Amino acid sequence: MRVTRSVVAGVGAFLPERVVTNAELARRLDTSDEWIRERTGIRERHIVAEGECTSDLAIAASQAALKDAHLHAKDIDLIVLATATPDETFPATATTVQAKLGMRHGAAFDIQAVCSGFIYAVATADNFIKAGQAKHCLVIGAETFSRILDWKDRTTAVLFGDGAGAIVLSAHEGTGKSSDRGVLTTHIFSDGRYHDLLYVDGGPSKTKTTGHVRMEGKEVFRHAINNISDAIEKAIKTVDLSVEDVDWFVPHQANQRILDGTAKRVGISSSRVISTVAKHANTSAASVPLALAEAVNDGRIKRNNLVLLEAMGGGFTWGSALIRW
Ligand code: ACO
Repeated sequence: MRVTRSVVAGVGAFLPERVVTNAELARRLDTSDEWIRERTGIRERHIVAEGECTSDLAIAASQAALKDAHLHAKDIDLIVLATATPDETFPATATTVQAKLGMRHGAAFDIQAVCSGFIYAVATADNFIKAGQAKHCLVIGAETFSRILDWKDRTTAVLFGDGAGAIVLSAHEGTGKSSDRGVLTTHIFSDGRYHDLLYVDGGPSKTKTTGHVRMEGKEVFRHAINNISDAIEKAIKTVDLSVEDVDWFVPHQANQRILDGTAKRVGISSSRVISTVAKHANTSAASVPLALAEAVNDGRIKRNNLVLLEAMGGGFTWGSALIRW
């Protein structure tokens, strides 16, 4: 059987220059390097400069991904950008990226699924490719969470960072078997009843302000491992593979304890887990592509490896994607 597969043609990432360590935060907040490291695994995070926007990070990551794919903006027919921190309420940040990359055709739109945004974006682009409506898609996760943090709230301010990652997905013919290269399966979920556990207390329609991140951390933690494990198990079952077949597990980088707990629950050894949370903190929709870029660039993820992605975030939203690199 001949099928269309979305094959990863390139990957890129960008982090703002300024690094903020736990020790620096402890000088302004009632917290400590020890508490942050023990509870989250985070040591430092990158934070944007004044005037540096989500689109700036997204453009730099996209240019790196295009270069890696040996493609140009004129080759791309769809941009899907996952972000919860757009430059403006409208238009979509994806259209700013489109203009600045010099792309004058096709379509560009944003996806809002908070920390799960990149998984949602991969699922969306993959479906456009499989439907024959796009050939080369730029899939981006980009965030400036530092702009929506309450810097006086130690329970959230220490957890997040800024950054962007991108991949290019290109249409290729496959056999329909799990040995094909490309996106093998995606699973996305949401349950809006959990709004109050993780949200931003502002927005154009409700308050006419941008608002700040509010979170019941313990409750989010409790749901995260269950939801993510379920999405992983569904992915593996769909393609008739087993967890032993997974070469690399690239989870959303929220908290080292969630990464470890999920890997243990689904039976993936820690040596196969890509973790960047210590250096990047939680960059929401950017965390998975940032981790992917690091593991591809340092040679861990290689062609034909089976790579498992997952994320969970506000909404709640969650999901998984299984990709043969
Ligand atoms: N520094 C020092 N002490 C702190 C800090 C801080 N930054 N933050 C909270 N504390 C205190 C609390 O006030 C509390 O004090 P108390 O015992 O006197 O009341 C104590 O530390 C323990 O707080 P808990 O909230 O119980 O700590 P917990 O072990 O649950 O860790 C954390 C908190 C890190 C937020 C954890 O619950 C977590 O990671 N949850 C997942 C949330 C998450 O990652 N969300 C991101 C988006 S969703 C996603 O991506 C999965």
